[in-house]
Order: sequence, then structure tokens, then C-alpha cells
Amino acid sequence: MPFLWSTIRCLALSLLVASASAYFVVTSPTTQTQWQNGKVNAVTWEKGVLDDINSFDLEMTRLSEDGLTYIASTISGYKKAKTSLNIYLEDVPAGDDYYLLFLNTSHGVMYAVSSRFTILEADATPDSSKTATATAEAGAPTVTVSGGPNPTKMFATTFPAEANGSVLAYTWNSASVGMLCALLACLSGALLTLW
Ligand SMILES: *[C@@H]1O[C@H](CO)[C@@H](O)[C@H](O)[C@H]1NC(C)=O
Repeated sequence: MPFLWSTIRCLALSLLVASASAYFVVTSPTTQTQWQNGKVNAVTWEKGVLDDINSFDLEMTRLSEDGLTYIASTISGYKKAKTSLNIYLEDVPAGDDYYLLFLNTSHGVMYAVSSRFTILEADATPDSSKTATATAEAGAPTVTVSGGPNPTKMFATTFPAEANGSVLAYTWNSASVGMLCALLACLSGALLTLW
């Protein structure tokens, strides 16, 4: 059952991401990343500057569990300084099946999804075979995220809208290769959960 559920969640995520054609890549966290409670952890991404995505919202979800954790609303994609964000974690349940979602929550369009990554307890010893954890990005704003998913919580942070924000004109375009890759990545993730 958990396997089936994970697969369905994966499929849903893949389909959402497949609809995004613009260049938008989450460079950290990766599958090797271990975030830790009680520390500042960096999110970094790259996107096309002419892609009409002027801002987006950031959320966190898990493969094995329902629920979204709102991290930040209206992050501007234009300003270079904001191609990274620091996240201070406190009392976030530990798990190895976290994903970050880059989307517009008003109309639900997903722009990018991070690789699956791990969140450790504050007192846990990071797995030394994986990339070191908790590397804050200099100059990036820091958002505090505490506790598990809670739909009644609002976004931890809302960034001010871009002064010259142009109208978001998003075109739907299915990229089947991207979708297949995302799907395979998801399925292998789901299998790892099972075994
Ligand atoms: C989401 O899209 C709407 C409509 O296109 C836009 O007005 C809003 O600013 C967008 N939200 C973010 C966070 O970019």
C-alpha cells in the first residue's frame, strides 16, 4: 500500500513538473543533501531570466505523507541575490523523502521540483557518505520553518512583490522526455521507500 500511494504521489508530481517548459532547475538540495534541524540550510536554483516567471512560492512536501509546509511566498526570480534562500529548520520531522516545490499557489502551476532530500534531527550525526549538511548561502535571506505540515499555517515569509512585475504569461507545453525522467526518478524513489 505505501508503495502504491508513493507511486501515485510521484506520478502526480511528475505530471505537474512535466507541464513546465521553462528553464528552472533546483541546484540544491540534491539527493545527497542532508538538512538538519537547528541549522541554516541553503536552497539554490537557476532559472531563465526571460521566462515570464517573475515570482513564485516555495513549499515542502514528503513522499510518504500528505501535507504541505509553506516556506516562502512571492520569491522574486529576477534579483540575482534571490536565486538562493536560507532555511532555518526547527522541530521539522526527520525523514529522507522531502521535496521542495516551486510553484504559483494561486493558479497551481508547478515550475520546478527539487530532488528528494533528507532532513535530520538536530542531534543526529550526518551520514558521512553524503554531502555535508547545513551550508548557509552568504547574502541570502533566511526563513524559519518550524514543525510539520500544517494547512492552517500561512507562509513563513512573504517577500515584497517586484516593483516592475509584468503580467505572468505562462504557456503550457508538455515536455515528454522530462516527464519520463521525472517519472523514473520517482518510481525508483518509491521502490527505495519500499525496500
Ligand atoms: C501567481 O499568478 C498570478 C496570476 O498570474 C499572479 O498575479 C501572482 O503574482 C502569481 N504569484 C506569484 C507568487 O508569483
